[in-house]
Amino acid sequence: MSTAPALAHTREELATLLAKHDDPVGFVPTMGALHEGHASLMRVARERIGDDGPLVVSVFVNPLQFGPGEDLDRYPRTLDADVEVCAREGVDIVFAPGVDEVYPGGEPQVTVDPGPLADVLEGRIRPGHFRGVLTVVAKLFGLVRPDVAVFGEKDYQQLALIRRMVLDLNMGVEVVGAETVREADGLALSSRNRYLDPEQREQAVALSRMLRAAQDAAAYGASSALAAARAELRAAQGVDLDYLVVADPGLGELPDDVPAGTEARVLVAARVGPTRLIDNMPLVLGRGKDS
Ligand code: PAF
Repeated sequence: MSTAPALAHTREELATLLAKHDDPVGFVPTMGALHEGHASLMRVARERIGDDGPLVVSVFVNPLQFGPGEDLDRYPRTLDADVEVCAREGVDIVFAPGVDEVYPGGEPQVTVDPGPLADVLEGRIRPGHFRGVLTVVAKLFGLVRPDVAVFGEKDYQQLALIRRMVLDLNMGVEVVGAETVREADGLALSSRNRYLDPEQREQAVALSRMLRAAQDAAAYGASSALAAARAELRAAQGVDLDYLVVADPGLGELPDDVPAGTEARVLVAARVGPTRLIDNMPLVLGRGKDS
């Protein structure tokens, strides 16, 4: 049987609940619409902090990370179901604040500058997005004061930027990346998958097919990996590509000649119908970038 987590809507309620614990705090920040991918983050956090430490999940749709014309208004808000997922995973505290609670001074005048890594990939297509993400994560870290925070590798650039923020701003939080959870056919779990109609759902699997093709061809180098992914894209229908890249694991450019065994990442973003999806997978390169 699962026990309902304590629900905090205000900073004061959160502080009161946290004050009851002195064990290491685990934290999973989310925007709600929780699915099995989020549940797996909670399990990773619980493993890290042990049975006694409080596990906190925040549910907050952060307006600052949505650009004009993005899906802020239609982003799913499903708090009751989210609390049930948290109960099943043994979460101790769900922090579900309103916008005024997180941004008490209104639109913030001080925000986190995400630096150059935010100018590429998602950041190039969604200007201001990572400023919004890092600002809210910094605020939530300030409120929850976690020892360990877990983020999904599915949002790989976000994870890289949060690691960098914690390093550059001496935040003293251990940031853990958790592997992407996939449907049986390979589609990465995402809160946005619910927008796909049945035909688009079939088409969306092309993203993970592209990434797997890249993994299979990586032994021949990064160019071959990209070529294999593009071949999958040509065979796909209804997929409108934003980007497909191979980068080093920190998202820097790969040198032209890399030794066999070099680790890299292949990342893709595409629209399927009106829904924008992202995915990525690790690669181990065989002979070099352009062999
Ligand atoms: O990945 C998300 O759900 C959000 O970007 C995060 C980290 C909760 C910040 O709003």
